[in-house]
Amino acid sequence: MALLPIIVAPDPRLKIRAEPVEQVDDELRLILDDMLETMYEAPGIGLAGPQVGVLKRLIVVDVRDDGEEDGKANPYRMANPEIIDVSEEDRVHDEGCLSFPDQYAEVERPDAICVRYLDEQNVSRELRADGLLATCIQHEIDHLDGILFVDHITALKRKMILRKLTKIKKQAERELA
Ligand code: NI
Repeated sequence: MALLPIIVAPDPRLKIRAEPVEQVDDELRLILDDMLETMYEAPGIGLAGPQVGVLKRLIVVDVRDDGEEDGKANPYRMANPEIIDVSEEDRVHDEGCLSFPDQYAEVERPDAICVRYLDEQNVSRELRADGLLATCIQHEIDHLDGILFVDHITALKRKMILRKLTKIKKQAERELA
């Protein structure tokens, strides 16, 4: 297994729509494992292919049992995830993203979803999720369509966050030079 470099915003590669996979084979299983390892190491609770330069519809999530930080690991590896049902009730969560280090903003999304996907054995599955797991899956699927959590907040707040990240990136570049 290997750790993959995570792309930090602003970066045009995060705005590209990812392609569906034909089937989950050994090569994709390896990528999914690397994505999970990268996510745990970060640490984070979700990661999408485009964040590590893989333009395929692959996501990994693990919000742990009951969404408790010290809960038992409960990883999902999903290919071609597709939301097929959402609840009428919404849920607001203070979201972060591994591509937006230390930046958070409240985003409102459906509280419960049903998602259809191919698992790591290439078996089609449906999962009903609510709460943090539902929020996380929706956030990761957005990445596959080039949509970032800051696209759900006001333009002003988005500009502030992106300006901050640009500043941090420039500073890092200067320190390397
Ligand atoms: Ni994210």
